Amino acid sequence: MELCKFVIFVTINALLVNAYPNIIDQLTANGATTLVSLIDQAGLTDTLKTAGPFTVIAPTNAAFQKVPQQDLAGLQSDMEALKDVLLFHVFNGETFSFDLKTGERATALNGHVIRIRSSSGQYYFNEAAVIQEDIQASNGVIFLVDEVLDVPEGTIWQILNNPDYHLSKFASITKFATRDSRLNSTATTTRYTVFAPSDDAFNKLPAADLNTLMNDLNNAKHISDYHTHRGILVAANLQDGTISTMHTGQSIKLSHDQSTGEPRLNGKARVIIQDIQADNGYVHIISDVLIPPTVGGIIG
Ligand SMILES: *[C@@H]1O[C@H](CO)[C@@H](O)[C@H](O)[C@H]1NC(C)=O
Repeated sequence: MELCKFVIFVTINALLVNAYPNIIDQLTANGATTLVSLIDQAGLTDTLKTAGPFTVIAPTNAAFQKVPQQDLAGLQSDMEALKDVLLFHVFNGETFSFDLKTGERATALNGHVIRIRSSSGQYYFNEAAVIQEDIQASNGVIFLVDEVLDVPEGTIWQILNNPDYHLSKFASITKFATRDSRLNSTATTTRYTVFAPSDDAFNKLPAADLNTLMNDLNNAKHISDYHTHRGILVAANLQDGTISTMHTGQSIKLSHDQSTGEPRLNGKARVIIQDIQADNGYVHIISDVLIPPTVGGIIG
């Protein structure tokens, strides 16, 4: 008799589990049809129907409408890029909202890190806010979100070394200053914002000054640290005032140009490229090298 009850229990349980549609059907049922169509174009439909379990961060159709048309078209014509973006929205295992705690990280199927935040009952994956949580599928869990996530371009250190950005001089100084591993780490929850002077910015300095920077360990540390802020500062949140830096006791002064409204660092440097998203923070590329007073006596 006991065995019989057990068998019935297991059978009913199995029926309940199977009662959920798979991830693709569940996305469709919940109106995420743009996502479903992109998944199909990327050839990932079968995986998301049958493999798993997965946790899916699903941008709604409205979220996709916020992406500029040409960016979306660009993605659709580049299968590898499309796959990369889609796989950044999926991670292994079933995670429900009660598992989501601020500071936790999940590694997406494309290998990049997603940060989790929860604030008075509202959950976030990176910049995306969860609109509907815990939609159960037969092979996973779905969270509907209001934004398409931007895939990070690597760690801060990897961005500094990306030849497209022409930051080789700042990268050299940072390496010499032994700050490379800190800016490459995704092992802790600490994030940094780096204001990276372009190579052109360094070329504005007299060659002898550049040499002094490149060859004196303390100067290199001061310069690298002075361009690094602990924490996240995105362009939209840059307010007039001071920005603390990793160069202890030295801060950057932020103001906005009266006529153009553009941000200026120490009254001079402009932000040339803003908000390059890294796995462990942000990089903004700036037009001039910021010289802290500790180095100012030596160069500049
Ligand atoms: C930087 O971090 C990435 C990703 O964690 C890793 O693949 C790479 O080997 C690291 N590079 C260096 C120079 O430590």
